[in-house]
Amino acid sequence: MRLANKVALITGGAAGIGLATAKLFVAEGAKVMLIDMQEAALTAAVEALGSDKAAAIKADVTDPEATARYVAATVERFGRIDVFFANAGIEGEVAAIPDYSLEMYERVMAVNVRGVWLGLRAVMPVMAQGGGGSIIITSSLAGLRGTPKLSAYTASKHAVVGLMKTAALEGAAQKIRVNTINPAPIATRMIESLENQWAPGASERMKARIEHAVPLRRYGQPEEVANLVLFLASDESSYITGNTYPVDGGMCAA
Ligand SMILES: NC(=O)c1ccc[n+]([C@@H]2O[C@H](COP(=O)([O-])OP(=O)(O)OC[C@H]3O[C@@H](n4cnc5c(N)ncnc54)[C@H](O)[C@@H]3O)[C@@H](O)[C@H]2O)c1
Repeated sequence: MRLANKVALITGGAAGIGLATAKLFVAEGAKVMLIDMQEAALTAAVEALGSDKAAAIKADVTDPEATARYVAATVERFGRIDVFFANAGIEGEVAAIPDYSLEMYERVMAVNVRGVWLGLRAVMPVMAQGGGGSIIITSSLAGLRGTPKLSAYTASKHAVVGLMKTAALEGAAQKIRVNTINPAPIATRMIESLENQWAPGASERMKARIEHAVPLRRYGQPEEVANLVLFLASDESSYITGNTYPVDGGMCAA
């Protein structure tokens, strides 16, 4: 049990990478609080995980009051926060910068950057009080290099790398470790949405093109990302903080 007696807070926990991570965390002995906007999916996740080991709160991570509420509720229900997986994110639209809507730019930055910052601001004092912990932020390969037609997403995923490095320096004295994971491409709703936006009506062909660009020639599974998050969450990574961890089938090397 690599997370025995640990309490983990997971945003974007109702689906995809967040849900796969919640399942693995529970299997490794953790209690998990799931945060998401999809109420029905949250209820189904808690039922599947077992209500003694998992709980959920419907919240929008961009809302400061909701953030304060979900952090307080996690402490009330499970007593502490040892692991914070700041994972909720949206892809926005696919359009070159001159054609990208300001409204969508603002929303992507709000969810992917402000949401993470609000989470850090609320969680770090609680973690410090509990003697430390591990924070994992979901960035992306798009947080390490440019991506045509995904300007807001790419900017947001670079921004959280800066947040991570700052939080790692600020948190070190309180034994709070902070890292990003940088996935690409992973088989979830998000990559399907991007396939459809890149090639409307030809998403299968787009999928084949993306897979061809991955040295391992396939999409990753959410469970393969969860394995990395588990390592960073557990005490096995006790000397690791302030860095980026690609899980990308070799794409960074290309
Ligand atoms: N799938 C990929 O290829 C890929 C690659 C790199 C990074 N990522 C990142 O992984 C993370 C998880 O995405 P995923 O691939 O599992 O996609 P997903 O869409 O299945 O999961 C994202 C979850 O976040 C939730 N969410 C969105 N906005 C929210 C908000 N404002 N408040 C609370 N919850 C919100 C969604 O409801 C959803 O359950 C995201 O940050 C994404 O940017 C994904």
